[in-house]
Amino acid sequence: MPGILKTWPLWPEFTKQADADVYSQEPSFLRAKKEIIEQYGKDAICQSWLKTCQALESVTQELEQNGADMIPAFEASKVVNEGFTESERERIKNIGCFIVRQVVPEDEARHQYAKFQEYLSANQDDVTGWPADAPSMYRLYDSPTQIAMRTHPNHLKVQQRLNELWHDASGETSPEPLLYSDGIRDRPPLQQFLGLPPHIDAGSLSRWADKTYRNAYHHIFSGNPELHDAYDLKARKDADQYLFPGVAHSRVFRAFQGWTALTPAAPRAGSIMLFPHVRMAVAYVLLRPFFRPPESGDVMDASKWTFAPDEPWFPGTFLQQSQLLSRSSHPHLRLQDCLVASPSMKPGDSVWWHSDMIHAVDTEHLGEENAAAVFIPACPTTPINKEYIKTQKEASLAGRPPPDYVFGAGNLNETLFKGYEGLEGVSEEAKKALGFYS
Ligand SMILES: [Fe+2]
Repeated sequence: MPGILKTWPLWPEFTKQADADVYSQEPSFLRAKKEIIEQYGKDAICQSWLKTCQALESVTQELEQNGADMIPAFEASKVVNEGFTESERERIKNIGCFIVRQVVPEDEARHQYAKFQEYLSANQDDVTGWPADAPSMYRLYDSPTQIAMRTHPNHLKVQQRLNELWHDASGETSPEPLLYSDGIRDRPPLQQFLGLPPHIDAGSLSRWADKTYRNAYHHIFSGNPELHDAYDLKARKDADQYLFPGVAHSRVFRAFQGWTALTPAAPRAGSIMLFPHVRMAVAYVLLRPFFRPPESGDVMDASKWTFAPDEPWFPGTFLQQSQLLSRSSHPHLRLQDCLVASPSMKPGDSVWWHSDMIHAVDTEHLGEENAAAVFIPACPTTPINKEYIKTQKEASLAGRPPPDYVFGAGNLNETLFKGYEGLEGVSEEAKKALGFYS
């Protein structure tokens, strides 16, 4: 099971020298660092660093030994009807990723894929995607297939269950799902893809620079990373993920990102790779810019790293991109041993991962069929999410791309596409989740 990536793909490695220009010209990095040091103090940050690196030793050992077996799978019918048991909740919350099988029945998912292929070929002159030379991620948001999948009654109920894994003492949010429109993937076999190396979504520098966002990681900066609660929506609901606008950043808060397969998915077949642990991994990523590695000796010995208050380099952090990671810049994560491929999935199965989870898209697709999936996250009802969904609905009714996906979409107007059906036929429950009544 372990060792899926014994040959590491040609993903970028982040080095201080190569990135020097980026950091010397942008004051926001050093400013964020200084503010955090002033707020929490050197001693607390150093204490957290040592605790986190030590905890990661056992975390990474467990991941290396168990690989994809770490990622649990549940039947959608059970999740919908019974929810999770207390022990399942604890396990899921620690690991932060899991499979929910048959959210949409396999036959229905296969039918929706056939329908999508017809839609794609009927509109091929007007559809664009990424990467431009061999698109596999399409700039389509409201094809009949995407709408049918994301508004499926099972899907809405599963999303609610996943939102319920978070808690919020403020009473200003609810686990009722809001439907976030995202793109669709249809990746042919043998198509190599290096565009999504290990990363964490939901902003990059904003995790440090936005005071509210930073506060969600209070225990991590204050010397007690073991107390970090990765499911506290009160701390997270007002965080500004979009403080530095960029094409990779979403404005909405996604409790879990996710996609639902339209065709079979398997390791080394264009699927997703996950680092199945949340708490200490994100603690490490947040603390990493405060320390400089030893110039010689064992880089894995955290006590040999030096506190670096005047160093503007945040490895893998670029204002407009997701938070990127690499083996050399983040050695204690042992990415090569611990990034595991999500288990095999049938059409209609879904994979979910926490908004702070490290993930990557498999560079290889050695399968025989296209690897197709609809991106559908679980978004709770929060003030920021409600506001976004309203603007998304207006865009959708006008045929325009959702606000998070305007960049690169040109004059896209999906209402003019052959086979366009729009939102008229969706259920009342789905309309509510699409912001029609708020
Ligand atoms: Fe991502």
